[in-house]
Amino acid sequence: MSAPKRLFIKTYGCQMNVYDSERMADVLSPLGYVAADTPDGADLVVLNTCHIREKATEKVYSELGKLKEMRDERLAEGGARMTIAVAGCVAQAEGEEIMRRQPAVDLVVGPQAYHQLPELIARSHRARGERLSADFAPEDKFDALAPAGRKANGVTAFLTVQEGCDKFCTFCVVPYTRGPEWSRDPATIEAEARDLAAQGVREVTLLGQNVNAYAGGLAALVRRLAAIPGLDRIRYTTSHPRDMDEDLIAAHAEVPELMPYLHLPVQSGSDKILKAMNRSHTADSYLKLIEKIRAARPDIAISGDFIVGFPGERDSDFEATLALVREVNHAAAFSFKYSRRPGTPASAMPGQVAEEVKDERLARLNALLDEQARAFNAAQVGRTLPVLFERPGRHPGQLIGRSPYLQAVHATAPDRLIGQIVPVKIENAARMSLGGTLGGGVLAEELQPA
Ligand code: SAH
Ligand code: SF4
Ligand code: F3S
Repeated sequence: MSAPKRLFIKTYGCQMNVYDSERMADVLSPLGYVAADTPDGADLVVLNTCHIREKATEKVYSELGKLKEMRDERLAEGGARMTIAVAGCVAQAEGEEIMRRQPAVDLVVGPQAYHQLPELIARSHRARGERLSADFAPEDKFDALAPAGRKANGVTAFLTVQEGCDKFCTFCVVPYTRGPEWSRDPATIEAEARDLAAQGVREVTLLGQNVNAYAGGLAALVRRLAAIPGLDRIRYTTSHPRDMDEDLIAAHAEVPELMPYLHLPVQSGSDKILKAMNRSHTADSYLKLIEKIRAARPDIAISGDFIVGFPGERDSDFEATLALVREVNHAAAFSFKYSRRPGTPASAMPGQVAEEVKDERLARLNALLDEQARAFNAAQVGRTLPVLFERPGRHPGQLIGRSPYLQAVHATAPDRLIGQIVPVKIENAARMSLGGTLGGGVLAEELQPA
């Protein structure tokens, strides 16, 4: 073991990157790397990047520019040289191009090669020769980033169970940056979950780009993990409507540990646009699916993703999206302006939509989604919800936790309740959070699945 070195990882994009960043830190810790909160004075900086929209990618280059300045300043003052690494989806998508645009970058490492990080760093230190590692070999990745020794970091945790995508929505880079769909072995996942539970983790969120395409069935995996003592809450994200099978819907009715929240992106309410997106569902089939899910679990909170201004989207298509949103009634949702991604089929489609039109549609959609989210939160006032307290809140004496519906809930409560699931009577609601008081008697009955 060498002298401690400071490691700063900056994470962009989705939860899978959050998970991967933690695993990178794990793989580097035997080499003496200790986490730092800022790039200032760090020996190694890793940017774990996202390629999903143009803005996400551009952020990476502006950050790299700042890091280069920081490094040059430090070298001028006689300090040690900071190593700069780019990981994640931009690394996978752009590879060598990154080093051409920003020569200060020492190494580029794609999402399936994080187990090679120690070697890549050593090589770049020695020779600055072989800098690129962006091959797909997912099994290696998770074998090497072993679950054993993973240090829990709080009472909730992400757990990647599936990675990659075979859906090829015409707007999306993920099938190219994360490779084909593959699933981790259930026994390894269970071992990792047991290890987390033994460290006090009460809630896991199973991650995958298409998590419900998990081989062998996500429902079976959920049931298996639900049996682990101490693991009281299970969530999963992100799901594709096509893979929402009967067994998984049934699990929402039968498994109390499975939380009543479902992120099930529809993207658009127009069949013409859905077809052009290659989404494999129609507005109607999506609504029927939601109906089935609500029949199994009436109180389930539905969330989703939307894209406005996809090529060829006319006013009437956008109106169809608003109509679908009204029909579904979301608890939460994310909406994006279509961003043209190099190499994706949609980027070459005719009928690209003007920026002002996208802006206007996004504002209208957001106003509607906002209204729905506020109404969903407001509907909790007066109910008593089981809240898993996660950490101290902003005000002294306050804790923050989550309701089953993934709402942030704050309440005055002692620190010893962190990691406990406690009944909280909800007294006020805002767009993003709820406030309440401890106690409040019995839990709302409909929270107990049949
Ligand atoms: N696997 C998930 C999410 C992938 S990315 C799924 O199937 O839904 C998260 C969200 O980013 C997508 O749901 C989509 O709404 C949005 N997105 C993806 N590519 C985009 C693009 N080119 N422009 C704008 N939004 C995009
Ligand atoms: Fe992208 Fe579609 Fe795959 Fe989701 S399902 S990751 S949106 S290609
Ligand atoms: Fe972004 Fe890659 Fe996740 S493109 S959204 S970090 S899978």
